[in-house]
Amino acid sequence: MISIQTNETAIWSELVHQLCGIKIDHSRAYLYETRLFQLFRETGTSSFEELYSKVKHNKCGTLQKKVVDLITTGETSFFRDLGIFELLKSRILPELKATSRPLKIWSTACSTGQEAYSIAIALCEYCGSRFFSKTKILATDISESAIFRASKGIYNQFEINRGLSSERLSSWFLPHCDYWKVRDKIRQIVSFRKMNLTGAISFNKKFDLVFCRNVAIYFSEEDKKNLFQKIAKVISPGGILVLGSTESLLGLSADSFEPVRAYPKGIYYRRL
Ligand SMILES: C[S@@+](CC[C@H](N)C(=O)[O-])C[C@H]1O[C@@H](n2cnc3c(N)ncnc32)[C@H](O)[C@@H]1O
Repeated sequence: MISIQTNETAIWSELVHQLCGIKIDHSRAYLYETRLFQLFRETGTSSFEELYSKVKHNKCGTLQKKVVDLITTGETSFFRDLGIFELLKSRILPELKATSRPLKIWSTACSTGQEAYSIAIALCEYCGSRFFSKTKILATDISESAIFRASKGIYNQFEINRGLSSERLSSWFLPHCDYWKVRDKIRQIVSFRKMNLTGAISFNKKFDLVFCRNVAIYFSEEDKKNLFQKIAKVISPGGILVLGSTESLLGLSADSFEPVRAYPKGIYYRRL
């Protein structure tokens, strides 16, 4: 493995922050060493300084995209943190009157799509066919390869085993060679798009429900604050924001959201 030097960590930290908002300082420099090693062979470089120069001056941007794909953690699963999906059906969807109108939903850092499809499944279980086909779930992520995989809606047995009950598997998936494919009914209400959450965020219409889970934890305090301010602008009054189970808005966006505590299952945030 090629080691990264302190002076190299500084330039890489700056570059990765510019590319995707993630902060990786010297205390976690091993992440550069373990995640970027394949790029040395691909680019014929042998030090982090040389690799930096190649990535920085790569005009077509493919190397930058590869760095983002390798650095970002795509860890996800179906119905991750089950409690929040139970809350979705018992509290959030009733509060949003999901049985009397089609909702607009955004999964902000969807990785390979499990979160967006889990939301769609929970919604269909809650409101049946009524308004379901008119519901729109936008799912975005900075990683092009994650978005590509998500849009296919095809998962291997290991991914299926992480979070899906056998009832949900048979109701919402079809066998597809050695894999499982999300049924069209679910797939057709979800659309996928590449988006960087540290860039500008603007939409024509506001969302009723936004999931922003397990992504802001990798951002600096300032980038987190900016992100939740931008998200506040695209949620309708009364709309709901859901964060990861270890995340909170404490000190970040207090005047835009009120916390709704529903212990022991979790906490969500209502746009004021
Ligand atoms: C740990 S996964 C979380 C996936 C899902 N939300 C969940 O909780 O299971 C984090 C995702 O955030 C994405 N990500 C990282 N930085 C991002 C950025 N600046 N803009 C958009 N997505 C980003 C990564 O590509 C990755 O897929």
